[in-house]
Amino acid sequence: MNPKKRSKTAEIVAVSRARHLLRYSSPHIFNDPYAINLVGSKWRFILKNNVLDKFISNKLSHFFPIMMQHVIRARYVEDELEKMQKENKEIQYVLLGAGYDSFAYRNKNKNIKIFELDLAGSIKSKQEKIKKIGVETPKNLKVIPFNFEMGNLQNTIEKNGFDRNKLTMFNWMGVSYYLSTPAIIKTLNEIGKFVIEGSQIIFDFTIPKTLLTIKEKEVFTKMLDWVEKRGEPMISHFDPKKIEEKLNTNSIWKKTKNVSPSELMKKYIGKRNDLPKLTPLLWIALWEK
Ligand SMILES: C[S@@+](CC[C@H](N)C(=O)[O-])C[C@H]1O[C@@H](n2cnc3c(N)ncnc32)[C@H](O)[C@@H]1O
Repeated sequence: MNPKKRSKTAEIVAVSRARHLLRYSSPHIFNDPYAINLVGSKWRFILKNNVLDKFISNKLSHFFPIMMQHVIRARYVEDELEKMQKENKEIQYVLLGAGYDSFAYRNKNKNIKIFELDLAGSIKSKQEKIKKIGVETPKNLKVIPFNFEMGNLQNTIEKNGFDRNKLTMFNWMGVSYYLSTPAIIKTLNEIGKFVIEGSQIIFDFTIPKTLLTIKEKEVFTKMLDWVEKRGEPMISHFDPKKIEEKLNTNSIWKKTKNVSPSELMKKYIGKRNDLPKLTPLLWIALWEK
């Protein structure tokens, strides 16, 4: 995508989080009160009109059927972060391709250092929204422009106060499929080399069409066309059985776990039938050094 432009898919992710609170009943899977103010004014208008939003989200679900995934993956990563915070006094949390994630503004733990990395255009758009909401940038947050397709991640975050001796959680949700496979390999290898043992990276990935049924393939093709038209083509996809072989080339990430959509549904949706089901397209990887 164009680094100077704001990410439209990041906005849709915030729409999903806002809609989850506005449209669905409690208990909510994920509670992000900032999301409604981080989306643009057009989306805010739609979301606040229940009938209009139902109509639009129904249409959108044919082109971008992963909106429930946005909610569940946000919960998943923060559940894992919570575990790490409980077991360790001081940790670091790095959001790679942070988009409109609002953790830094919801967080109450002063012993966590937060780094948000993203393309300059997306950072600018989020900062404008945050300014409008009128909240201060937390002292423990560092916002850093970075492009995964170029540049040195370690130098960039160390210059901004990252401590390589501290346990760290990396949140790379919603990004891998927009990157070239060499950029994903480079990023995973680089991070794996400079973080201390026990540090984790969590990212989601799309599976290749060859693993899908004819009907699922059609849905996926529509989604690929839709995002491409918006300037954010999804270009990297991985077979969950072969992802380590392809990406964890130096076996730096020692404990790897790949979580399927059905496992996520079982864990977070269970018997609830008021929530949309997950599509089989997106898996979550939790890798630990
Ligand atoms: C779909 S959004 C996900 C945002 C956030 N992680 C979330 O789950 O809410 C993808 C994010 O990746 C960022 N991104 C895409 N390509 C990138 C690149 N080459 N380098 C850095 N960030 C990138 C976009 O700017 C956008 O914020």
